[in-house]
Amino acid sequence: MENNFSKYINSEIFKVVSAQAGELGFETYVIGGYVRDLILERPSKDIDIVTIGNGIKLAKQVAQKLNRNIRVNIFKNFGTAQFKYNDIEIEFVGARKESYRKDSRKPVVEDGTVEDDQNRRDFTINALAISLNANNFGALIDPFGGVEDLNRKIIRTPLDPDITFDDDPLRMMRGIRFATQLKFKIEKKTLDAITRNCERISIVSKERIVDELNKIMMSEKPSVGFKLMDNTGLLELIMPEVAALKGVDVVDGVGHKDNFMHTLKVLDRIVPSTQNLWLRWAALFHDVAKPLTKKYVDGLGWTFHGHNYVGSKIIPRIFRRVKLPLNDKMKFVQKMVNLHMRPIVLSEEEVTDSAVRRLLFEAGDDIDELMTLCEADITSKNEVKVKQYLSNFKLVREKLKEIEEKDAVRNFQPPVKGEEIMEVFGLKPCHEVGIIKNAIKEAILDGEIHNNHEEAYEFMLKKADELGLKLVGA
Ligand code: CTP
Repeated sequence: MENNFSKYINSEIFKVVSAQAGELGFETYVIGGYVRDLILERPSKDIDIVTIGNGIKLAKQVAQKLNRNIRVNIFKNFGTAQFKYNDIEIEFVGARKESYRKDSRKPVVEDGTVEDDQNRRDFTINALAISLNANNFGALIDPFGGVEDLNRKIIRTPLDPDITFDDDPLRMMRGIRFATQLKFKIEKKTLDAITRNCERISIVSKERIVDELNKIMMSEKPSVGFKLMDNTGLLELIMPEVAALKGVDVVDGVGHKDNFMHTLKVLDRIVPSTQNLWLRWAALFHDVAKPLTKKYVDGLGWTFHGHNYVGSKIIPRIFRRVKLPLNDKMKFVQKMVNLHMRPIVLSEEEVTDSAVRRLLFEAGDDIDELMTLCEADITSKNEVKVKQYLSNFKLVREKLKEIEEKDAVRNFQPPVKGEEIMEVFGLKPCHEVGIIKNAIKEAILDGEIHNNHEEAYEFMLKKADELGLKLVGA
């Protein structure tokens, strides 16, 4: 690998930084993730600049030169400043010799050299720097063999990993996330240190952990990250419900499948079909209640009765604890978990119109996502079975389309509203109104009547008659 990068950092921004740093007499480097991604030829939107001098002063002067209107955000306590230019975020920091106080992320900062600054970074591949100084512009500064580790695809800490992880235990999650995203291996010494230090994750804020989890989720093969979390003990601490999916019980020589491995397969299988983070979370959680509902029944074998429903009820507890959002995204995940068995059950039987109509009614606009989850859930090794399921699903999808065109139940709006029922029979809000409304909905879903006002009105009259209600004025 060449070690002069001047041709890769020839954009206006680096030239301006270099010139201004020269004027101020500050030695200056571009460092960290930007350099890593440059070498890996990955797109990168953040530039970190480290200077042996006053980072805030340099930032202000660079911003002024680039465009007088740029707003510079200054974080005095940390000695950093940051601004956005042409969609790129640029952060400036004075080089630090830094030690972190135990159980706190507040750094004790002392001025340092560029080597000091590289020492305190998380991984060798993130500790690379490129000089912006006039005398050696573009030179690569790689004290820990970061480029070699990039080539060998290795995640390794620059210092003794116990020290690096003790400084900031989030780095254990970052290491696993980088290994997953970049398809790198974590070096044994570093991996062992994660296992040894896993309990320290407890001092890290939930928000920072969940950021890493989301990045693992959005990678090409999230199972890699979850397996690493499991092997190091982090999964048990962060998501014990998912760790509990592991293992196989055997009764009378009959075992069930390992639900952790199955879950990870489903998660990896769903990745090519969706960029929806929340559908991927639903894949991770779809069987989360299996350990709770597991039962061996003589003659039937292993059952997990109601695991979909119980699972959907557990989701809020998990989301609250790990600080995933408690909003419509969570509701979507709950809905997916609750309904994930339905298309399978449906495709096992004869695919009737009314069953399809009911599924459409309950899934609403999320029906396509639900079908995607179900297809990913077919992990059987039996090719014949898989083929049969998938062709049944095709049938279900066709039926879904046909029925939606005919009956429009996807976003069901009652064709006769409660107010109309009250008006026609001179009622105040009461139990009977609900009974009639529900009967109309059921009749539509069963295919007894079509989803239109005329047929629903007729049906309402019949139902009201059964209940002994009289029309106003009759
Ligand atoms: N860093 C670190 N320890 C952390 C976080 C960050 O040492 N806990 C250092 C690394 O050198 C990293 C740089 O700060 O490269 C920038 O961090 P950040 O922007 O969070 O990550 P990137 O490495 O740029 O990667 P990504 O954007 O994918 O998160």
